[in-house]
Amino acid sequence: MSFLIFQGTLVHAESASQPLKILHNHIIGVNKNKIVFIEPEGRLRELSQQHGFQLEDVQVMEGQFLIPGFVDTHIHAPQYVYTGTAMNLQLLEWLNKYTFPTEAKFANLEFAADAYRKVVHRTLKNGTTTACYFATIHKEASLKLAEIVAHFGQRAFVGKVNMDANSPEYYVETTEQSFKDTEWFIKQVQCLNNPLVTPIITPRFAVSCTVTLMKKLANLAELYGLPIQTHISENKDEISLVKELFPECSSYADVYQSCGLVTKKSVFAHSIYLDDKEIEVIKHHGSAVSHCPCSNFMLRNGILDLRKLWDKGIKLGLGTDVSGGYSPSMLSSIRQSVIATNVHKMQQGAAYNSIDYKELFYLATLGGSQVLGLEDRIGNFVVGKEFDALLVNPKAAGSPFDVFNSSFSDSIEDIVQKFLFLGDDRNIQEVYVSGRKVIPTTLDSNSFF
Ligand code: GUN
Ligand code: ZN
Repeated sequence: MSFLIFQGTLVHAESASQPLKILHNHIIGVNKNKIVFIEPEGRLRELSQQHGFQLEDVQVMEGQFLIPGFVDTHIHAPQYVYTGTAMNLQLLEWLNKYTFPTEAKFANLEFAADAYRKVVHRTLKNGTTTACYFATIHKEASLKLAEIVAHFGQRAFVGKVNMDANSPEYYVETTEQSFKDTEWFIKQVQCLNNPLVTPIITPRFAVSCTVTLMKKLANLAELYGLPIQTHISENKDEISLVKELFPECSSYADVYQSCGLVTKKSVFAHSIYLDDKEIEVIKHHGSAVSHCPCSNFMLRNGILDLRKLWDKGIKLGLGTDVSGGYSPSMLSSIRQSVIATNVHKMQQGAAYNSIDYKELFYLATLGGSQVLGLEDRIGNFVVGKEFDALLVNPKAAGSPFDVFNSSFSDSIEDIVQKFLFLGDDRNIQEVYVSGRKVIPTTLDSNSFF
């Protein structure tokens, strides 16, 4: 049977102004990979006749609920191997001491395949149905990541990282090689012919790229119609270095703009210290920002004023930024975003309009889909969109939170909130990407393929 039918509670974002909507007593029908109906459950019999499914095929969710899959708009797949460690340094020292030596090991394909299987499996288990990955400078290992993503059934953007300047001699490319390998990588990923896996142009950050390379990469993005991802304005020492390296540019955003890297398909991670002119540049080109509070706190970079960017109408999503961020779970990004907005509230006073957990749920799902240009395909439950969803079980074995059904009864909204603040992968019972059940999986994240 190509039909999937769930009956019960659906929770999703309708829009930025309707960020968490609960649909009680509904049924949702999925044919192959797409949602074909969402109706009140009173119409069940009628729908079964209309669509030709049996009532016993309906999965009744008792106490469980469906939410859209999470969209991680910024994650470094190779850094998963040291997630949860190495959090004692600031960005530039951290890159040199931990990140570059680890990423250099991905020249070894076997090592890379093992790490990539683990990160893809781990993020899927944690409900990340779409991930926007940085890989490393190695073209074969980057392709391996794309193949593993396809194998496990995740939806992803995969970027071979570009670095032709100011990088250690053991982890750097020539401009020509970087460009050539990137084009090779794009073609190979396209040959996978998997509609869920897309290459993304990935200059690491302005510090590690020459202007020549950045311009060539912008041309590639245009030629192949591809998105672009990079870092911007994450750390004060980094910003000073960019000023020193590009004295002809008026700002960090101007470096990227002058190279043609600011487009409607660009995703800029961090963006903590952008000034109003830079925000205007991002807005003008229709680029997006990935908010990565876990790593902003762990690397002590600073605290993004998310409300300011929200009010300016910038496309926004959340990222884990593994492993600057200590957690591969988007639930951690939601929680750390709450702490970040609370700090702004404490600093800016009562008039400051905090971002609430419902808005963060929107950013982790529909907002993320907009950041990646996927809003017509995923992000929420709408007829015609693909079915990327999590079946959440608040009463799963070993659940890290309790539900009260007594006189202090939890509402469904309370339970959703408890999941967002207290839940973990034990509560994520099933994960679907484009209609395919990918968790639980029979695929082995430990064996080589
Ligand atoms: N800036 C350049 N590279 C990186 C990276 O790997 N992580 C973070 N957080 N910032 C960066
Ligand atoms: Zn990053």
